[in-house]
Amino acid sequence: MNPTRITMRWYSKDGGLVRRVPLIEKALYSMVRLSMRAGLVHRIIRGLSGVVSPRTAALLQLEAARAQVRNRREITPTTGKLHLGCGTRIVEGWFNVDLFESDCDVDILKHPWPWPTHSFDHVVSQHVIEHLDLDSEIFPFLSELRRVVRPAGEVWLTTPDMEKICRAYLESRCGTLIEGAQRRWMKDWPYPPSHYINHLFHQNGEHKNLFDFELLSWTAKKAGFASCERFIEKDLLSRFPEFPPRWDDEQTLVVRLRN
Ligand SMILES: C[S@@+](CC[C@H](N)C(=O)[O-])C[C@H]1O[C@@H](n2cnc3c(N)ncnc32)[C@H](O)[C@@H]1O
Repeated sequence: MNPTRITMRWYSKDGGLVRRVPLIEKALYSMVRLSMRAGLVHRIIRGLSGVVSPRTAALLQLEAARAQVRNRREITPTTGKLHLGCGTRIVEGWFNVDLFESDCDVDILKHPWPWPTHSFDHVVSQHVIEHLDLDSEIFPFLSELRRVVRPAGEVWLTTPDMEKICRAYLESRCGTLIEGAQRRWMKDWPYPPSHYINHLFHQNGEHKNLFDFELLSWTAKKAGFASCERFIEKDLLSRFPEFPPRWDDEQTLVVRLRN
């Protein structure tokens, strides 16, 4: 991990970027990293949560989870179907991978991934790439995907759709987006509707890039994929009926990449 990354993400309690003091931050970061190794991380983050913003606490938690995962050298997957960044959606018959509580805990930002070349026929990764930085994280991520997928394999990615989100802002003042979220999980949106755009673009600092189809297909092709085709969730579900629906087509871009 690179201390400059924490420098760039260090926020005050009200969400503003704190003036950079690299040496102090470097020391603080090393302290946090050593504590992670010593298993004290959760106590430290709990302590910090009174001092730093919720956004910083959430990012530290992610870094802590990453520090705790040691990618093993080589693992033979139990199936040729990789579900990457599965979260709590464990899908039967798939090799469900995430940072924690998965079939195989892996930090996808540490390379190479622990699976042999051409291990998988199919990969599905839903709402993960928006958490990665375009230049420094997505290109290595896609290049590992190209390596582990078999030549005739398929990679299905879903991510928030910048175009749908911007259209919804202009056409319905975010109405379709907020209704969708209320159908799925959100009780109430106590802000003016436009703030929902901030939520989708930033999600408390967790989201680093949103994509429209043009940007995602450009990225995939630059990473070496031969094709990037656009679909909707129904297509993904008819290809892999074992996947539970997310019901979020109003805000989501679905693509299939092939080598
Ligand atoms: C928004 S959630 C999506 C979860 C699930 N795919 C879904 O559709 O509900 C993003 C997931 O990416 C995982 N993730 C983020 N960074 C990761 C990393 N470096 N290595 C492995 N998983 C990571 C998170 O733990 C989280 O489960």
